Amino acid sequence: MGMKGSNGGHEPVLVQQVVRYLATVLDGAYLDLTVGPGGHLKALAQALEQDARLYGVDRDAAAVRLAQKNLQGLPQVKAIIRTSYSRVDSVVSEFGDTSFDGILLDLGISSLQLDDPRRGFSFRYDGPLDMRFDTGSDEPTAADLINTLGENELANIIRNFGEQRNAGQLARAIVRERQSKMLRTTAELRDLILKTAKTSQEHKTLARVFQAFRIAVNKELEHLEAVLPMAVDLVSKGGRLAVISYHSLEDRMVKRYMRQQVKGCVCPETFDVCVCGRRPSLKMVTRRAVTASPQEQQLNPRSRSAKLRVAEKIT
Ligand SMILES: C[S@@+](CC[C@H](N)C(=O)[O-])C[C@H]1O[C@@H](n2cnc3c(N)ncnc32)[C@H](O)[C@@H]1O
Repeated sequence: MGMKGSNGGHEPVLVQQVVRYLATVLDGAYLDLTVGPGGHLKALAQALEQDARLYGVDRDAAAVRLAQKNLQGLPQVKAIIRTSYSRVDSVVSEFGDTSFDGILLDLGISSLQLDDPRRGFSFRYDGPLDMRFDTGSDEPTAADLINTLGENELANIIRNFGEQRNAGQLARAIVRERQSKMLRTTAELRDLILKTAKTSQEHKTLARVFQAFRIAVNKELEHLEAVLPMAVDLVSKGGRLAVISYHSLEDRMVKRYMRQQVKGCVCPETFDVCVCGRRPSLKMVTRRAVTASPQEQQLNPRSRSAKLRVAEKIT
């Protein structure tokens, strides 16, 4: 994970590939919908000309503050706004551009968030079971979900978002535990998982269950589903959309969406002629998902599950 620096110990994933695929118009406009500590935006700024325009969005107020600090002094960076990317259509009027030569989505979590015990994302530190990207919202925290959802709902979260096989057993243990004492901290959840799962793959199991609750708390798949068509709308003709995902459900959603836009027509295969009239809006730039090199994976463990897909707008 590299040295801790002003980026909060966060190394941008597949950064050279993102710059190579996205920075095609040197004086163009670019939008990073998951700006985080600003690693990708900074690399883009360095590759672009002085009169390029860069904008960033993040749902996390701490990330926005850090990005503003890290990107200070870069003349191309025009605005960093706190909002969910799924609401970007309502803030775009605050930018100086309304369409973009490149849009980036780098999904998931930054090291800045993971390594802050107060955020409750990591089993490595003790902290409150919060896990919200937007701590100012009144949305339920991880503790709220863990202490109130039914056993089946908990099992579904752990199974679907954590891809964890013994999800039913873990959900049952949570429900049993909270009958005597609510689960409030990351250490309490960690200890319960370890006691229940009794696995030699402790790290993997903990990472999966914590990831599952993070995805559920932040409704990450719902936001992703909402942002993909919005992002395509905001890309200029000939511009590109790049998405880095870290979870198979996210990657599947991105792949399916891009393929659908490449195909255009949504008529059933049994129809002889198209009646939907939908035209293709994208062409793929990456044939298959781009993954991190072995060197990058060794230096930055977060990059191990990363998959980058890039598409170009054709209409
Ligand atoms: C992997 S980090 C981005 C890191 C950044 N690309 C870099 O390398 O410096 C993902 C970021 O997306 C943000 N995020 C997650 N869901 C979001 C949403 N719905 N809207 C906006 N930002 C979101 C997180 O707060 C986090 O800062």
